[in-house]
Amino acid sequence: MRVATAADRQFVLALAARLVDGFEQPPHRSKAELIEGDRRALDGWFERPNADEGMLVAELDGVAAGCAYLVTLVDYFTERPHAHLSVLAVEKAAEGKGVGSALLDSSEAWARSRGSDRLTLSTLVTNARARGLYERRGFGGEYIRYVLPL
Ligand SMILES: CC(C)(COP(=O)(O)OP(=O)(O)OC[C@H]1O[C@@H](n2cnc3c(N)ncnc32)[C@H](O)[C@@H]1OP(=O)(O)O)[C@@H](O)C(=O)NCCC(=O)NCCS
Repeated sequence: MRVATAADRQFVLALAARLVDGFEQPPHRSKAELIEGDRRALDGWFERPNADEGMLVAELDGVAAGCAYLVTLVDYFTERPHAHLSVLAVEKAAEGKGVGSALLDSSEAWARSRGSDRLTLSTLVTNARARGLYERRGFGGEYIRYVLPL
């Protein structure tokens, strides 16, 4: 596990496509816009790395296999800052080998080291695999965002 460097940029950007892989997208969200939005967010870290964000890369047998992009958000209710896992993605070929779990361990450590009292994340309601992983690790759902297409 290590902090990303400029040399990881293309690897990390390519992982954006994994964020729509293996499950149906919710209605009114195209795969293209989801990938584009994640690519833009990930690329922002390489353009403007800053102290409130972290980009972790996990290696498997010395080869980059997954990434976690962490940001700092302000809680709506308490207005206190906290750590938020914005992107978690593992290469298809590396799935099921503990890389995602290791990235979650390191994300938790990143949050604790910054004194955050919580680590939050959002996931698409249709992403059953990721939701199962988060729930087994102790994350609890908080609220669901509803969308009325107009
Ligand atoms: C979700 C994801 C990060 C998990 O990463 P991973 O490296 O496969 O995870 P691990 O190997 O640590 O396995 C974690 C758990 O997922 C399960 N799992 C792994 N691959 C799986 C698969 N293909 N299908 C179903 N379950 C799977 C494992 O059995 C394990 O379960 P356990 O916690 O009960 O032991 C990875 O599948 C991924 O990148 N998915 C696409 C992107 C995505 O959905 N990201 C989350 C967006 S919020």
